[in-house]
Amino acid sequence: MNTYPKTSALMARGSEFLGSEYAILCGAMSWVSERNLVSAISNGGGFGVIACGAMTPELLDTEIAATRAMTDKPFGVNLITMHPALTDLIGVCARHGVTHVVLAGGIPPKGSVEAIKAFGAKVIVFAPTLALAKKLLRSGADALVIEGMEAGGHIGPVSTSVLAQEFLPELSADHVVFVAGGIGRGEAMAGYLEMGASGVQLGTRFACATESIAHPNFKKAFFRAKARDAEASVQVDPRLPVIPVRALKNKGTAEFTAKQREVAGILDSGEVDMGEAQLQIEHYWAGALRRAVVDGDVENGSLMAGQSVGMVKQEEPVADIIAALMAESEAALSGR
Ligand SMILES: Cc1cc2nc3c(=O)[nH]c(=O)nc-3n(C[C@H](O)[C@H](O)[C@H](O)COP(=O)(O)O)c2cc1C
Repeated sequence: MNTYPKTSALMARGSEFLGSEYAILCGAMSWVSERNLVSAISNGGGFGVIACGAMTPELLDTEIAATRAMTDKPFGVNLITMHPALTDLIGVCARHGVTHVVLAGGIPPKGSVEAIKAFGAKVIVFAPTLALAKKLLRSGADALVIEGMEAGGHIGPVSTSVLAQEFLPELSADHVVFVAGGIGRGEAMAGYLEMGASGVQLGTRFACATESIAHPNFKKAFFRAKARDAEASVQVDPRLPVIPVRALKNKGTAEFTAKQREVAGILDSGEVDMGEAQLQIEHYWAGALRRAVVDGDVENGSLMAGQSVGMVKQEEPVADIIAALMAESEAALSGR
């Protein structure tokens, strides 16, 4: 017997697309979304996604094999489009027969969607505007994530609730669309499903799960934080467009301002071009996030977190988080 009939019915298309029991993705989180969390999410009925981040092809190869050894359920791999070895990373996914590849961090470069589809995987993309979403879906993307500025990590300028109103009425009849950003409870999940979403993606709510390898200091910082502590970074130099990042305020967020000035300086002097300057910024984030997640340096590292962090109170097994989300959604839908 299905304990969550109303929610499952609204998730049917998303679950079928993902091959998971519930259409709940745990969004890739660099350093956090590795074999332990990813396999736990997929074993718990959700859909785990490995964060490739700045990994080399060799490291990704190892991580996929290790994840596969821990779950026989489907999971995905998230690749950052500006990774210099993107083609090789796609090759690694092909060799492992990865079923779902998420392309994040910008518009997919020419040929990348085709290369992924060529080995039979489904391609999931992010789109910041409706026009771009339509273009990407026309040119072969199989599903879309719309992610609002409430989310943790790299963010766009528009809130989840507005993106959902703009995108879902236009796209949900014909396309699989997942909604991300600021979802902490099942009632919100139910709302987006009713609006036409095929499923949802959460990051912050899962980052401190029992199975997450994030350092205890990182987790403690999450448990203490309130929604307003998860601030978006500011761009200090108009010549250097940096994608804002939402993280808990600490010394590290202040240091990012200095880092931007430093990179803007070497951009001005002609030492690096714009592409290299932006890559340096992204390497900075990868390093800073590693310091917080792996080393537990919550002062100087980056504590990327979404505004839903205020709803993360304690370490909980992934299965309990998923069960709570489904039960809250079901109760909300049943009470309509
Ligand atoms: C610590 C952290 C690291 C993240 N790293 C990545 C990443 O490497 N690639 C990516 O596409 N998204 C990344 N994200 C975004 C998540 O995949 C997800 O879309 C987001 O957390 C959803 O919003 P929420 O935090 O409000 O649940 C990260 C988020 C967090 C909190």
